[in-house]
Amino acid sequence: MKRAEVRQLQAWLDGVDRFNATPGEGTTRGVYTPEDVAARDYVKKEMEQLGLTVSQDPMGNLFGELPGTDPELAPVWTGSHIDTVPNGGKFDGLAGVFAGMEALRLIKESGLPHRRTLSVNVYSGEEMSRFGICCIGSRALTGRLKAEDLQERRSPEGQSIYDAIKDCGYEVDSFDEAYPHKKEIYASLELHIEQNSKLEKAGLPLGIVTGICAPTNLSVVVKGVQTHAGGTSMADRRDAFMAAAEMAAELERLARESKSAYITGTVGHVEVLPNAANVIPGEVRFTVDIRSVSAEDKDELYQALRKAYDNIASRRGVSVEITLLNHDKPLLCDEAICRLLREKAAALAVPCMDIVSGPYHDSLLLGDLTKVGMLFVPSRDGISHDRNEWTDTADIARGTDVLAETMLALANEL
Ligand code: GLV
Ligand code: MN
Ligand code: MN
Repeated sequence: MKRAEVRQLQAWLDGVDRFNATPGEGTTRGVYTPEDVAARDYVKKEMEQLGLTVSQDPMGNLFGELPGTDPELAPVWTGSHIDTVPNGGKFDGLAGVFAGMEALRLIKESGLPHRRTLSVNVYSGEEMSRFGICCIGSRALTGRLKAEDLQERRSPEGQSIYDAIKDCGYEVDSFDEAYPHKKEIYASLELHIEQNSKLEKAGLPLGIVTGICAPTNLSVVVKGVQTHAGGTSMADRRDAFMAAAEMAAELERLARESKSAYITGTVGHVEVLPNAANVIPGEVRFTVDIRSVSAEDKDELYQALRKAYDNIASRRGVSVEITLLNHDKPLLCDEAICRLLREKAAALAVPCMDIVSGPYHDSLLLGDLTKVGMLFVPSRDGISHDRNEWTDTADIARGTDVLAETMLALANEL
């Protein structure tokens, strides 16, 4: 097979980065914003240029297919996402979409026969930053996103997912007919940037992902009494911020003290009301993000956290309302696919190591539909979700070669 071209991957990475709400301050492309729609149109055109058969579903998920010689066989998928966190980087998600497109280009141009259809997909809204719930495109495919979620989940501006999709002009009214995805999928692969520094520290260009941590996301509202900062003695306060601060610190303590092999706890978004220097905050809203590769450990932490939050609230005379946004299950990648990825990497002389993913990915959801494998390429200094996120295109190209060889092998498996 031909080898991946750095020039081609670079052209796509640069081409899509024009669609950015914060040029000069990292990449901001929230799902269903004008930038996301323009980026999707760009990817669609580039897929068509490659000769792929492109279709789009009601959530805006894109499918670029290269038909196999036995089109009735279940297809092999690859893909990732094009949305970003606010002021994020240009590789998270995009590396996997373009690696997938390049893999299909290589297979097509090398004229190698494949029985199963190959498809490179773009899943809508992998980042949870706009609607508070992650992987909405791939979640819809699995049937785990419900029609009522489209109405209930809202952006910080108060727009529902339904209205946001409608504004893009996509066929959201066909949601109930389209999901869950009805056709069988043989296997799904995803290349992604590592978003950690394990590969860099090991001096290796490739990671074979053995498991994907899953997020549990909460929204927490603490209500106290808003009053005068100077006029209210310490004993008389019901300070919503101090209660929330203690709750945040409790999350950190529980995560640090957990016996879990890998568990994280993060408060990433905080709103303080009224947010004025001489007023005791009356209300605080914050998010909690818990990840682990063990469903049991994550559940244990979640239950302990709920209990601790009730205790803190009653001791401080405030109220607390916890909404569970999602409580996803971690996924173990398919062992046979991991073996195949290692074999293909060895044949291409690309050294690799096994790795567990702390971040979630669309593949986590796709694990409901099919067997899954993932490849990681190194992130400089482990930085991601930031404008300084960086991955060498040459590393993406090497990973793409392994992806292409593995897809071809899977496409000829019976
Ligand atoms: C995905 O970007 C995550 O937050 O893990
Ligand atoms: Mn991300
Ligand atoms: Mn990602």
